[in-house]
Amino acid sequence: MAGARRQGDAPELSPRAIECEVLAGLEPFCAAEVRRALGHKAELLGDGQGAGGGHESDDGLGAGGGAVRFRLAAPLASVLELRTAVAAYLVVRVPGRRPSALLGDTSLFDQVDAVRRLHPRGAFRSFRLSAPGKDSAALRRLRAELTARTGLPEDPDDGELYLRIRRAVGPDGWEALVRLSPRPLSARAWRTFNLPGALNATIAAAMVELSRPRASDRVLNLMCGSGTILVERLARGRAALAAGCDLDPAALAGTSANLDAAGLRGAAVLGRMDATALPLRDACFRVLLADLPYGHRMGSHQDNAALYPAVLAEAARVAAPGGVMVVVTHELRLFERCLREAGRWWSVEREVQVYQKGHHPVLYLLRRRPRAAAAAQSPSRSTSSRITTASDSTNIEVDSSRGSEVSGSGRPARMAWPTRTKRR
Ligand SMILES: C[S@@+](CC[C@H](N)C(=O)[O-])C[C@H]1O[C@@H](n2cnc3c(N)ncnc32)[C@H](O)[C@@H]1O
Repeated sequence: MAGARRQGDAPELSPRAIECEVLAGLEPFCAAEVRRALGHKAELLGDGQGAGGGHESDDGLGAGGGAVRFRLAAPLASVLELRTAVAAYLVVRVPGRRPSALLGDTSLFDQVDAVRRLHPRGAFRSFRLSAPGKDSAALRRLRAELTARTGLPEDPDDGELYLRIRRAVGPDGWEALVRLSPRPLSARAWRTFNLPGALNATIAAAMVELSRPRASDRVLNLMCGSGTILVERLARGRAALAAGCDLDPAALAGTSANLDAAGLRGAAVLGRMDATALPLRDACFRVLLADLPYGHRMGSHQDNAALYPAVLAEAARVAAPGGVMVVVTHELRLFERCLREAGRWWSVEREVQVYQKGHHPVLYLLRRRPRAAAAAQSPSRSTSSRITTASDSTNIEVDSSRGSEVSGSGRPARMAWPTRTKRR
């Protein structure tokens, strides 16, 4: 409705400070997304990448580690669309030496109300508070005041309305960070099928950015599991062809369910295919995306020793010259050894290490070398036939000499060749 004010926003939209919690290593991706998605309505603070910004880091990662800060002159709801942030918070600054200052300032409670108005009634059923000296008299009073003003009970473990209190840097003052959503942004609503070991969706979103997504892309998500990367790719924008493969039918069914839940039914072709022996024609994808088994929760280190080089070789075969492959793995020594051996096909353009709890996986952006240079040692080519989908621009070239189970309905079915259905 023209001129209508969105819930949760003050009429004048005076700039407000926002802090995104980000997996350390992904700050530049979040800063770039803020610039791309919010444009001139967001002014990044601190070092221009949104890191720092004059607060004490409370995550032990150093100033700016795992955080991107900006001033926003747009509806708060626009921040909820960010895909590379784990969570986003409205920052309320309150002057005063003691935490009791938080009680004497109504702006905190006004902003809590603004956040609650962003979501349907009942989305927040309880609150929780994280703060140094949480059991001090002042913070006990603050918790009591929050209960009184919001009508919500405190749930120290699962409270959806989440506030973090910390001391501000510089002159006396406190900062209250009010999370903008009942669950972290990284907990995607589309994840109806939860594969143990599924990739963190913000890492998947960063991998998509590394591939520089374009509408003309032909994209293959190798070993797609529950489809995290495929969903994030398609949520970011259209692709001429999006396909996913996995050996596990249950994983493919999960990908299908997650695509449906994301409103992307029919947007991808799924196939039960071995990523080391794809029944696909040479050079038919510009973008390959893969979350390789790390070898502990999924697969084994022994299996990976054979799997990793085979996947790199087969991906090189189906990649178009100049095309890219974005890989995430935690099995770094093995992968780097395999990369050296695959150096005739792939050049490494960028590496990004991500700090995710106990894991420090690396995202690799690889570029397929031109075939002329690599022709002498190209991975072996197979005979193929072209299978035409509903639209000729979305052909998937299938090698008829190898078995596969491919389906365009988003559901794996033996030898059901791709047909596309319209998006819902
Ligand atoms: C790390 S998981 C992918 C998880 C996925 N990114 C997600 O978020 O759900 C690796 C996947 O590779 C699949 N896989 C293992 N070996 C394979 C192979 N040779 N060909 C195809 N898929 C394979 C497994 O079934 C598993 O689903």
